Amino acid sequence: MRILVIGSGGREHALLKGLAGNELFVAPGNAGMESLAKCLPIDALTPQPIVDLAKEVDAELVVIGPEVPLVAGAADALREAGIPVFGPTQEAAQLEGSKAFAKDVMAAAGVATARALRVTPEEGTAGVESALEQFGPNYVVKDDGLAGGKGVVVTTDRAEAAAHANAVLEAGNPVLFESFLEGPEVSLFCLVDGETVVPLLPAQDHKRAYDNDEGPNTGGMGAYTPLPWLPEGGVERIVDEIARPVAREMVARGIPYQGLLYVGAAWGSEGPSVVEFNARFGDPETQPVLSLLKTPLDTVLYAVATGTLADLAPLEWEDGFAATVVLAAENYPASPVKGDAITGAELDNPDKVLHAGTKRTDAGYVSAGGRVLNVLGRGATLEEAVADAYRVIEGIEMRGSFYRKDIGRRAVAGEVSVEKQ
Ligand code: GLY
Repeated sequence: MRILVIGSGGREHALLKGLAGNELFVAPGNAGMESLAKCLPIDALTPQPIVDLAKEVDAELVVIGPEVPLVAGAADALREAGIPVFGPTQEAAQLEGSKAFAKDVMAAAGVATARALRVTPEEGTAGVESALEQFGPNYVVKDDGLAGGKGVVVTTDRAEAAAHANAVLEAGNPVLFESFLEGPEVSLFCLVDGETVVPLLPAQDHKRAYDNDEGPNTGGMGAYTPLPWLPEGGVERIVDEIARPVAREMVARGIPYQGLLYVGAAWGSEGPSVVEFNARFGDPETQPVLSLLKTPLDTVLYAVATGTLADLAPLEWEDGFAATVVLAAENYPASPVKGDAITGAELDNPDKVLHAGTKRTDAGYVSAGGRVLNVLGRGATLEEAVADAYRVIEGIEMRGSFYRKDIGRRAVAGEVSVEKQ
């Protein structure tokens, strides 16, 4: 099959690796993907250039990685052009694009989530002060626009919460205040095709920049899968209590969801509660999750794209665990330094290293983004998977780079637990 993948990060590299064996194109891609796919330039990740490119390469399937083209309507435009696409429509992608829409759907579907209050730029600092009186600490303050996971501040410091909220308002976006949800977080990726919901393995992300969950929020610094601490039946509860009711509500509203619904949930004393939805695969959780998928990825994505997910045989998975550790550039996430040389023996081995922000020069790979590489580890136990990833990352050199040393550590030590229900 000729498949066009849209995007340029570690998630898209993982998708391409899973799709290997097909004729693959990626736009714009990155230097590390060149052995798997033809990297094609694209003017903008907006609907028309994506449709034009899909026609040019005669794509039989388009897989849209990031949220921005989905929220802009790229999947609608491809469907109108008769090209199968993995990704929800513009309206359905509002589950990620508009937190107010997501809250409304959850309320109608009876799905547990944090209490929220939205403050608009017109309401200004007075609105912020009033919201801070009603919430926290802990304060949870979210940019209501698309911010790639980086627009969230969770803090006990009221001044920090106010500063973030006012900065979001000054940028012209509404800001959302939420009650803090207790409990460890789960990322559960669900394939959704109308009312059919098929979960992948549950994963956990590490969103803060530094060890011990300190520092600013990032797009994600590492992840592991599956979750040894999740109660038995945990995945089924998230599907039954969150993903399926939301899928049904979307069908009832006449905007059926077709693509990947990323359920970000906190597992508190009453079970799972939604922190956020995303309308696409998560990054970096996709990297370890797909590394354990035995069912051919092309079959899975094509089934969703063509409305035949209900006919797909149950997914098959490798035994054991997988982990990914992100190598980030100096000053990530605030203002990452680019152009530093990267060396290491496994840089061209996609079983071990997936590229996120790299460029190729005559002298070799250099950094070209904040998250530069995702190193993968596998093992019979979570401890072995994490150790495998750290063994590989220790062999990579890049001036100024850093990575978290504690990915999966609390789970390995048995320190992640959920309250008995
Ligand atoms: N890992 C967080 C995200 O993909 O949004």
